Amino acid sequence: MERDIAKLVYLEAVLKETFRLYPVAPLVERHTDKDLKLKKYTIPAGSDFMVYYYAVNRHPMWGPDAEQFRPERWLDGTAPTNPNLFASFGIGRRSCIDFQPFVDKVLKIAQEKEGFTDEKIKHQLNTIVTAGYDTTANTPTWKKNRKLLHPMFGLQHVRRYLPVFNLQARRLVERFTEHENKGAFNPELHVHVVSLESICHFQPFVDKVIKIAQDNERFTDENIRDELKTIVLAGYDTTANNRDVDKDDIPKLVYLDAFLKEALRLYPVAPVVARHTDVDVKLKKHTIPAGSDFFVVTYAINRHPMWGPDAEQFRPERWLDGTAPTNPNLFATFGLGKRSCIGRTYNMLSMKTTISHAVRRFRITADISKLVLKQDMLLKPASGQHIILEPRID
Ligand code: HEM
Repeated sequence: MERDIAKLVYLEAVLKETFRLYPVAPLVERHTDKDLKLKKYTIPAGSDFMVYYYAVNRHPMWGPDAEQFRPERWLDGTAPTNPNLFASFGIGRRSCIDFQPFVDKVLKIAQEKEGFTDEKIKHQLNTIVTAGYDTTANTPTWKKNRKLLHPMFGLQHVRRYLPVFNLQARRLVERFTEHENKGAFNPELHVHVVSLESICHFQPFVDKVIKIAQDNERFTDENIRDELKTIVLAGYDTTANNRDVDKDDIPKLVYLDAFLKEALRLYPVAPVVARHTDVDVKLKKHTIPAGSDFFVVTYAINRHPMWGPDAEQFRPERWLDGTAPTNPNLFATFGLGKRSCIGRTYNMLSMKTTISHAVRRFRITADISKLVLKQDMLLKPASGQHIILEPRID
């Protein structure tokens, strides 16, 4: 209940401390129309620059324990009083509008689940914030968490995010427009900014609609749909021949599905995943003894000779003409087995929506020979991923 929320002070401190150390947006882009005087430097008018929130949040002004997770700092008066040193939700007028409702929502969920201790909440939050589970979580904890989250990640549920994906895609296309016919550029920052903006906007947008519906008895589904459309599309040029992707389009996008799978096969974001085993794992020629930590190299599985002589080639058609292996474990991009990615459907839907908007507006090309990959726990484009945008001629 609302009055309980005010009492959950330690939980609020845990939340803030988690976001301080792990800001979802480690850096944001800003543009200034006037000179910005800092202590030692001036950022001249007309500059584009980055604000490094991750560094602000761990600044020495947080004290000698700045790198430590210590929620108590928010309660015992040792956290800095300057609110701008907590930058996880941005600084100044453009900051993410809705930290508090988000916190309240988590607190409310916590309240509804009996037996949710602060410790459990901390663990759960870490899971949500890092968009992954604690891979060291023991099996019963993991099972419970996975079960709890499972319904939120099925196609039926994920489809409800389509308005957000469409909004995100429109914003990206809008940002891309300034690069049209201007040669190669790296879209990475735009992609990050847009996805973060959508995280910030999703919450107030849902809250607003729910509130309107609750406050107004005669509010019909039709009204709500209109309201959502208005909020989502506010400020966007809807006259262009670029209608939103709807749920009936999804099963029809078969080539896009094959194209994405093929890109994800050759470039798995997680080229290795770590595992620990309590029991002997017998493989064809070897046995991994109980108690071992080991890596599964998804990158190698995805390019295994069982994919055929063209395993190294980008050929989306293999997913359509029956030449892709039938064993689903040979496509390891989203991990294998029970602990595989819970966000797979969400991710595919979001990517399909974004790409569908982008390719209807632009002709997109890139020189893959210039792509240099760096492989550690994640697969990254060390060279950047430069693309060229030209208007599409139909
Ligand atoms: C291209 C996009 C993505 C790729 C390649 C990917 C890949 C993976 C992989 C390989 C794992 C398994 C890690 C392991 O075995 O240790 C995993 C787990 C996970 N992913 Fe994703 N993921 C993607 C997008 C997403 C999205 C969008 C979400 C959330 C909406 C998400 C949420 C999770 C979660 C919660 C787990 C842990 C599952 C568990 O342990 O039960 N992922 N992901």
